[in-house]
Amino acid sequence: MSEAITTQPPSHRVLPHELPASLRDAGLTNWIREPLDDAVDRRRRIIMPPAAAAMGTPASAYQGALLAEARHPDTLFMMGDNPALPTMPERPVLKDFFLLRFSPIARTHLLQSARVARENGLDEKVIMACLVHDIAIAGLLSANHGYWGAQMLGPYVDEEVAWAIEKHEALRYFPDESVGYTYPEAYIDYFGPEYSPPEYLRREHEAARRHRWYMTSRLITMNDIYSFDPNVVVNFDEFEDVVARNFRQPSEGLGFDGSPVAHMWRTMIWPNNFL
Ligand SMILES: [Fe+2]
Ligand SMILES: [Fe+2]
Repeated sequence: MSEAITTQPPSHRVLPHELPASLRDAGLTNWIREPLDDAVDRRRRIIMPPAAAAMGTPASAYQGALLAEARHPDTLFMMGDNPALPTMPERPVLKDFFLLRFSPIARTHLLQSARVARENGLDEKVIMACLVHDIAIAGLLSANHGYWGAQMLGPYVDEEVAWAIEKHEALRYFPDESVGYTYPEAYIDYFGPEYSPPEYLRREHEAARRHRWYMTSRLITMNDIYSFDPNVVVNFDEFEDVVARNFRQPSEGLGFDGSPVAHMWRTMIWPNNFL
């Protein structure tokens, strides 16, 4: 019997097992992918919730239970391509992340912001900045997204573009009447009317206002739209020329060029890797 088990491929060993009720009750079924029909084997893949996503939620208490689940012979931790995600090319370019990884709402938001910037006749640097200003929200993390985004893009865009993206996060909270920018109504809905930005963002805003590139960052906030016509479809190809002139695509592909931020792009390629 034991010989039969060792000589059979994994696909024949699978016996679907019921998830313990404690994991189901904690909502962790969402982190466990049952084998897809076209999977390379028939093993269940567990996605360990990233610490930043699990903290403060029931998921953080169940890491031990997920580790125990992964010891079942028909269960593994997710490593490499998640079959539920489109496969990325070997040498991904910026467009691949837009089309194959970013959530539809974030992709639309970025593309529409860039289109508004172009329609407003703004400089290409600003159009480029608008196109990628929330790239961290789209593919990595929302908290501190301006800073994550600026770092991810740093090696590939003009220094002014990366700076503007970093600072737009703070500038969004502070009106500038001289250019007609007011506190976003959406933020009142999202964070409540009493929300007040923390001190470090106040300091960032003050410093950014005195910087020579202030207006570049301010222009991102002014083209940072929230409401749009769902019937208006903006194609990434509309900005291929801007990207070609303003984004230094590495020949090895984003994630594989050995840059100090390559790991951030790889995290978007394989966001569910256990390690
Ligand atoms: Fe933003
Ligand atoms: Fe935005």
